[in-house]
Amino acid sequence: SMSTALDSSKLKITKTTSPKAKLPNEQLVFGKSFTDHMLTIEWTAESGWGTPEIKPYGNFSLDPSSCVFHYAFELFEGLKAYKDKKGEIRMFRPDKNMERMNKSAARICLPTFESEELIKLIGELLKVDQGFIPDTRGYSLYLRPTLIGTTAGLGVSSPDRALLFVIASPVGPYYKTGFKAVKLEATDYATRAWPGGVGDNKLGANYAPCIKPQLEAASRGYQQNLWLFGPEKNVTEVGTMNFFAVFKDASGKKELVTAPLDGTILEGVTRDSILQLARERLDPAEWTISERYCTINEISSKSKSGELVEAFGAGTAAVVSPIKEIGYRDSTIDVPLLPGEQFGPLTKQVADWIAEIQYGVVESEWSRVV
Ligand code: COI
Repeated sequence: SMSTALDSSKLKITKTTSPKAKLPNEQLVFGKSFTDHMLTIEWTAESGWGTPEIKPYGNFSLDPSSCVFHYAFELFEGLKAYKDKKGEIRMFRPDKNMERMNKSAARICLPTFESEELIKLIGELLKVDQGFIPDTRGYSLYLRPTLIGTTAGLGVSSPDRALLFVIASPVGPYYKTGFKAVKLEATDYATRAWPGGVGDNKLGANYAPCIKPQLEAASRGYQQNLWLFGPEKNVTEVGTMNFFAVFKDASGKKELVTAPLDGTILEGVTRDSILQLARERLDPAEWTISERYCTINEISSKSKSGELVEAFGAGTAAVVSPIKEIGYRDSTIDVPLLPGEQFGPLTKQVADWIAEIQYGVVESEWSRVV
């Protein structure tokens, strides 16, 4: 049989007849309100990708036996669109998200697609819903491309039907508290990801099991988990974000450290952007940029000796999230912040570098005009 490729030129648009009222920026809660429209594309093993449709945001009707509900045939992406000073719509590195989405899809036997075609279709959704894209710094339109298996039946097998959809939510700061340093609980009794597992794919199934440890950390006064791995207790990720630390030795040499992509680490677009910008822009006489293992004991002893100077999480939703304290067993690891501030100097620097590109203040091939 002929398997049809994803084709953006077949797009069919049906506009809403009941447009929603737009919320003022201060009332935006992350992922709680959505734009007027969504993008949907059905796939079948027999015919391939069907007609892409932009239509009013609304419920789906699915058979209760659909494999997404039973065996977690689901993956998602997160990326953001911005409006620049000239009113132009920009997406930040959408090619990276499409690449990762295809990787996640291949891992759980869901269909892959031509990345540039989905980027064009998302661009069309952005044009239809452009009134929902905030134009204020700190605000953006969060895009959630999602792919689910829709085969009806309880047999455990490769789905022969799937649904790709994209919804969009106007957002401000990810945390209600804004750009505020967080307290983490180093977690070694639960494991987020493991060698040979799927922790490097953006599968919904990786997220649900992390909420109970998060609630436990919250009950002890911590906002997020610092996920440790293995007998060495390597620091891997923080909550749903990649982890970065900054060390400074007695001679003044500094190191920016994050975990290596060994299959247990989500290949964050913000992570990759920070590493590239740091390698391009920080003075190599002063800085080493490392993708290496780092244990909780190293963090702890470097905190005591004054060599731990910053730590932060990095992800699309919060961009960077400064860390002020890590609880580990009965001890507290302190992370310094600038006096009277909620961040350290490099944390602020990378946040500014990325924002300038995202909002089109600094031209970059990472920022794609729609
Ligand atoms: C991120 O962008 O950091 C995330 O992974 C958050 C998302 C799951 C809401």
